[in-house]
Amino acid sequence: MKKIEAIIRTEKLEDVKRALSHMEQNHGMTVCQVLGFGKQHGFAELVRGQKVIPSLLSKVKIEMVVKDEEVEELVELIQVTSLTGEVGDGKIFISPIEDVIRIRTNERGQDAL
Ligand SMILES: Nc1ncnc2c1ncn2[C@@H]1O[C@H](COP(=O)(O)OP(=O)(O)OP(=O)(O)O)[C@@H](O)[C@H]1O
Ligand SMILES: [Mg+2]
Repeated sequence: MKKIEAIIRTEKLEDVKRALSHMEQNHGMTVCQVLGFGKQHGFAELVRGQKVIPSLLSKVKIEMVVKDEEVEELVELIQVTSLTGEVGDGKIFISPIEDVIRIRTNERGQDAL
């Protein structure tokens, strides 16, 4: 199993949810509002050598724990849906997940997703 953490533009969240709803398989997700900055330190244009305090921009973070074989399709869905081509489109992190427990049934691992 893998965890997909996608930090995207807030206004793209509805599009991602809609795209997910069209998939055959239903997936759970967690969404939170986050503050952060990337390479431009929160500014659209950075003058080389200029030193400014980074500016925290509001984004949305989507977390999904999925089967290994589902990662690529979901990453592509999130990427295509979240793309504008401008700086600040966001980032997707993928990390391994050791185990999952569905509290209600005590199922573990992939069966609990
Ligand atoms: N290396 C990182 N570690 C943790 N969070 C990050 C990292 N890079 C970006 N983020 C998060 O992702 C958000 C969007 O980043 P952003 O899309 O600006 O990345 P970027 O590398 O600057 O790419 P771009 O050049 O397309 O703007 C940031 O506001 C921050 O919350
Ligand atoms: Mg950036």
